[in-house]
Amino acid sequence: MFNLILFGPPGSGKGTQSEKLIAKYGLKHLSTGDLLRNEISQKTSLGQAAQNFMDQGQLVPDEVVIGMISSALDANPEAQGFLFDGFPRTSAQAEALDKLLELKKTPIAVMLALDVSEEELVKRLVKRGETSGRSDDNNESVIRARIMEYHNKTTAVADHYKAFDKVVLVKGEGSVDDIFTRLCKEIDARN
Ligand code: AP5
Repeated sequence: MFNLILFGPPGSGKGTQSEKLIAKYGLKHLSTGDLLRNEISQKTSLGQAAQNFMDQGQLVPDEVVIGMISSALDANPEAQGFLFDGFPRTSAQAEALDKLLELKKTPIAVMLALDVSEEELVKRLVKRGETSGRSDDNNESVIRARIMEYHNKTTAVADHYKAFDKVVLVKGEGSVDDIFTRLCKEIDARN
């Protein structure tokens, strides 16, 4: 079993690269953003509770996303490994994930952290907002609020895994294929 965290700020390419990585390595993709958007589209009570936070570019409360990930892990007992995308995003989420994986005796192998300048992040998300229909992409102040949440609450997650020597910084600018090659090189060195 190989568990990977693909880390990085909003717009750094986590979703784009996750699709390619799960196809190559046969991992189960767990994206809390996708799970939450699915809850919203199904109009569940969890989705309704999450929507306000997401529309404002704020993180959804820890207990909501930890519960979602716990259920997703239980629902995939046959997985060969998990790719976590957009989770964990706070120290509390990182500690909860470590405990959940400890119960399954399958730790995080590595955190690959995509490094992209803020100017490039905003450019990518403003461009996607022209067509994506994502409510958190269509306003530059919400995009900047998401990046601020990342700096205030999420960078601590990298420090958590640095203490276990599990973080590798990967240049996240350039072509999608070149970035994918860089990520694969790091995975192949550990898999
Ligand atoms: P989430 O869905 O996780 O979004 P995000 O982290 O803001 O990330 P994005 O999907 O915007 O970017 P990405 O890094 O995946 O990049 P992508 O590949 O899409 O979270 C949304 C919200 O849900 C949060 O704000 C929060 O409210 C809530 N939430 C989710 N998880 C949570 C958690 N754990 N705790 C609490 N709340 C949570 O690429 C972006 C764009 O760039 C695309 O248009 C893409 O085509 C383009 N692109 C990608 N690569 C390149 C490249 N190399 N060159 C040029 N363009 C590129």
